[in-house]
Amino acid sequence: MKFFIDTANLDQIAEGKELGILDGVTTNPSLMAKEGISGRDNILAHYKKICDLVDGDVSAEVISTDFQGMKDELLELKEIAPNIVIKIPMIKDGIKALSFCRDNGIPTNCTLIFSAGQALIAAKAGATYISPFIGRIDDITWDGVELVRQIAEMYAIQMFDTEILAASIRNSNHIVQAATAGADVVTCPLAPILGLLKHPLTDIGLEKFLADHHKANA
Ligand code: E4P
Repeated sequence: MKFFIDTANLDQIAEGKELGILDGVTTNPSLMAKEGISGRDNILAHYKKICDLVDGDVSAEVISTDFQGMKDELLELKEIAPNIVIKIPMIKDGIKALSFCRDNGIPTNCTLIFSAGQALIAAKAGATYISPFIGRIDDITWDGVELVRQIAEMYAIQMFDTEILAASIRNSNHIVQAATAGADVVTCPLAPILGLLKHPLTDIGLEKFLADHHKANA
């Protein structure tokens, strides 16, 4: 399973990269705004910095909601770097944009997926990745992990190549659950990734090993 980091913060991306387990980055307009990045030129320049920092796929989201606008934007975004993936919302014109990208060999990430039907049509339109939002589904008391499981089963039966990129991850358990449900990728902030490392018995065990070593070597 691939690990993407879900942030536009360069320090956090660099810290994730140092672990040696980072396969890519996802961003969205809210994450860019959170970093205070505004204006087309600054946004493009920031994506370039992210692409220079990581070897893997970097999702850059279009803002337009009409096909022509999306097409103009994605053609500009794809020139930033070879590892740019165009993030396209799950709307009618988004399907047209996904099909255009499929026909022109441009990798895509279809975002804001909340149902198996949306995942089906995005795969049919040739999306490279689809992003079901686990946390936001859980927020309304539905089951985000169960949606990932359903999509994984459907894609296996239909032999779609589209990768399931579990997004809107809120905690470390979501990562494990998404992996178990068949996600190909998880994207999340650094904290849930670091949370995977933690276990109190590891800390207690290490403390004892080191104490015994120091006693024997005093
Ligand atoms: C996915 O690509 C989105 O950027 C992100 O995971 C959304 O997460 P949120 O629901 O925490 O905003």
